[in-house]
Parts: sequence; structure tokens; C-alpha cells
Amino acid sequence: MVSKVLGKWLITGANGNLGRRLIVHLLQSTRDDIVAVVRSERALQTLQQLATTELNLPEADIGRLSLVVADYTNVAQLQAAAQGCDRAVHLVGILKATAYATYQAAHEDSCSALTQALAASSVKHITYLSIVGSKPDAANACLASKGQAEAIFAAGAPAACTLRVPMVLGEGDYASGALRRRATGKNGFVFRGDSLEQPIYAGDVVSAICAASNQQLVGGHDLAGPECLTRKQLYQRGADLFANTPIFVSLPIGLGYLVAGLLEQFLGNPPITSAMLGVLDHDDNIDPEPTMKLLGMQQLTSLDAMLQAVLVAD
Ligand SMILES: NC(=O)c1ccc[n+]([C@@H]2O[C@H](COP(=O)([O-])OP(=O)(O)OC[C@H]3O[C@@H](n4cnc5c(N)ncnc54)[C@H](OP(=O)(O)O)[C@@H]3O)[C@@H](O)[C@H]2O)c1
Repeated sequence: MVSKVLGKWLITGANGNLGRRLIVHLLQSTRDDIVAVVRSERALQTLQQLATTELNLPEADIGRLSLVVADYTNVAQLQAAAQGCDRAVHLVGILKATAYATYQAAHEDSCSALTQALAASSVKHITYLSIVGSKPDAANACLASKGQAEAIFAAGAPAACTLRVPMVLGEGDYASGALRRRATGKNGFVFRGDSLEQPIYAGDVVSAICAASNQQLVGGHDLAGPECLTRKQLYQRGADLFANTPIFVSLPIGLGYLVAGLLEQFLGNPPITSAMLGVLDHDDNIDPEPTMKLLGMQQLTSLDAMLQAVLVAD
């Protein structure tokens, strides 16, 4: 009898929205083991609670999840965490950099440390999540940093695949909460309301990560949701679910950059930065079919089903 070889996943940034979702999927739908790496005791406790209380899993399944606190730029700590793992998923990333949390540290430095840690390890493949529009020479600081990070994985060992996705919508996440406030709120302002959005469902991103990892896909690939629409149209599609008809007045993006620039001048941790605004303002309009084909994905969650799940059912 041929027995299926079980996987052992190293997941960094495991306490984030997609990390938690990936862990739940692996615990509920596979027999694989998971080493979940976080960077604080508080994050470790969140994941402990997820496995023991929220998922209500049997002891044997809880035992498949090991939790490790590590510094994502510490090669020795990552090396120790990766012992016996056969694949890695790197979910560390930030949209907003501050004086205390730079893009360089979160993206390039964490990717460099991980490739060094895994170069001579049992890990055969890394899946990395990046942002549509990322490239090393991008004018936007966040997209350039993500692009540099992708290049570090592409040049190193083990083999790596980057999936570049735009706005991800999942139950209980920040982006869905912000969209719900728009959808249920009164009239409001929006920066460049005709910028293009192509949200993808968080469950589809997890499926894509698993497919990329299982197939040991290599290279950078763009994946987005099945429908592209303007930001104003997206807000209205959400509002339709609440029989709401708010009027969104579009403001020039230049005004947004002015406000963000001023906030950056005066606050150590401004609510919005120019780079963050630039990522959010990026026109996302890609054909997801080629990457779906590579991943063996038959279909993506429709925008209506996605909005129903994250805005209403949740
Ligand atoms: N969600 C989206 O819409 C979206 C879209 C495109 C690409 N992505 C990419 O997908 C990945 C996962 O996304 P997500 O939604 O799960 O993100 P998330 O919920 O924000 O989680 C991000 C993870 O990165 C860690 N992190 C944050 N700041 C850090 C820093 N300065 N240094 C080191 N680690 C830091 C967080 O740890 P702490 O909790 O300890 O801060 C957390 O584990 C990210 O790389 C992101 O860029 C996400």
C-alpha cells in the first residue's frame, strides 16, 4: 500500500488574517503538521486560543499545530523553527510603514533571513504573498519593497512562488469592516472613486496558496477576483445588500496625497501615508485565468457571493 506523504508547513506571519485562515484550512481539511511562527507572545496566545477554543478540535488535531515565537529577521531562530518542514508560506507584510516599522525590515529583511534559514534545510518550496503592481522599480515605496522581496526569493533557494493579489476580502478582516462601514453608512467622500478594484475572496487566496505549494509552482503570478469595477461601484454593490443608496463624492487623489503628506510630517504613526494611499489607489484590472489554470483552480468566488459572505453573513 502506498501511503500519502504528509506535509509539514512552516508559516510565518501566521497570526495575520490569511495566516489564521490557512491554519484553520490545514487543520480542518488535511492531516498535515504546521509550525506557525509569530513574533510575540500575544500573537502566540491568539493562535493557541484559535486551535483549542474557537475550532474546538480534538486533541490529536491540536497536536498537529506547533507555535513558535521568532524574530523574522533572525536566521538562527527561523532555521530552528523550520526543522523537519517540507514547505514554507511567508505571510509577513505591511501596507503602512512607520518610523518604527519599515518596509525594508518587514519585506526585504524578512525574506532575506528566510531564504538564508531555509537554504540548507528540508524545506523544498516557499510560497510568498505580494501585491498586484509590485515590482522592484515601482515608484510606490510599498510596491517597490514588495517587488524587491519577491526578487530575493526568486534569486535564492529553495524554489519560490509569489502570488500577487489585490484587495482581499474575508470574514472579520479589516478591509471587509471598512467596506461594510461604507456600505451601511450615509453619503461620503472617496478619493478617486473611479479607480479600479478587483477584490478576491480570502478563501480563494488560501486555496491558491495551497495549490501553489502542493505543485511547487515557481515564479511570480498575478491573481485577482472575477470582477473588476470602480471603487464607487464596489461601495454601491455592498450598499445594495443593505438597500442603501449613499452618494459618494469623488475627491482628486492629489488631495489625498497632500493630506497624507501633512500627516506624515506631524505624526509618528499617521493613520494614512502616501505609499499606503498609492497602493490603495492602484488600478487593479488583470485576467485571473492564466494563474487559475496554472494552479488548477476551476473557479473563483463571485463578487456577489463574496460580499454576501463578508458583509452580511459574517
Ligand atoms: N490582505 C490583503 O488585502 C492583502 C493584499 C495583497 C497582499 N497581501 C499580503 O499578504 C500577506 C498576508 O496578509 P494578511 O492580510 O494576513 O496581513 P495581516 O493580517 O496584516 O498580517 C501580517 C503579518 O505580518 C506581521 N507583521 C506586521 N508588521 C510587521 C513588521 N513590521 N515586521 C514583521 N512582521 C510584521 C504581522 O505580525 P503582528 O501581528 O505581530 O504585527 C502579521 O503576522 C502580507 O504579506 C500582505 O502584504 C495581503
